[in-house]
Amino acid sequence: MKPQLTIALSKGRILKETLPLLAAADIVPAEDIFSSRKLIFDTNHDHIKLVVIRATDVPTYVEYGGADMGVAGKDVLMEHGGAGLYEPLDLEIAACRLMVAGMKDAAPVEGRMKVATKFVNLTREYFARQGRQVDIIKLYGAMELAPIMGLADRIVDIVDTGNTLRANGLEPMQHIADISSRLVVGQPSMKMKHALIQPILDQLQLAIDRRREGGE
Ligand code: ATP
Ligand code: PRP
Repeated sequence: MKPQLTIALSKGRILKETLPLLAAADIVPAEDIFSSRKLIFDTNHDHIKLVVIRATDVPTYVEYGGADMGVAGKDVLMEHGGAGLYEPLDLEIAACRLMVAGMKDAAPVEGRMKVATKFVNLTREYFARQGRQVDIIKLYGAMELAPIMGLADRIVDIVDTGNTLRANGLEPMQHIADISSRLVVGQPSMKMKHALIQPILDQLQLAIDRRREGGE
């Protein structure tokens, strides 16, 4: 019998773009994920299951072997730190940027700066690399509100079109990283289930290349 393979998918905005890539690798859920309350889904392969979880939980599941592989944004992976994970593929979906932002035309902050973000670890590392000491305020969403309400001087958040920043009187200030979603594989799984995983990686790579070339 083939070993079982579990793939952790981020629910939310990545999921819609992930499913066509999986389909191109001939992995198709047995029922409609969007209209179900299930967390575990069978697929067209007896040995492959999908689990659909919060984006921020994907690296944790894969790190501890709760799933063999997963799909998560690079922002989430940077925040997690990447322990126990290989990151073999850039899926080139959900492209955006991780930026420092603040109120439009805000003066430079003298001394310690207050930064609101849900990416506490990567924010600390980013400012440490700049030699800058900051007080980090952990938020779980709507970071753009923090400078408006005087909670923080700056935010670290995802920027795509810039519409959310603009609509709230903020502007992007520094670019931290380009973000897209990545396929991650648990290090023990890559070793123990390599024969099962490598063909999936190959097919995903082909699908990514085809899409980039405008073939699909
Ligand atoms: P959760 O609600 O589970 O804490 P989340 O709100 O960050 O997670 P989503 O909004 O579904 O989850 O975003 C998932 C991923 O999509 C992010 O980790 C990021 O990589 C990417 N992303 C987020 N916002 C955008 C955006 N505006 N444009 C493109 N990609 C984005
Ligand atoms: C994300 C991010 C920004 C917005 C950026 O939020 O946190 O607020 O998208 O996109 P834009 O530059 O195109 O406006 P999301 O819509 O995922 O809501 P969230 O606060 O639930 O994360």
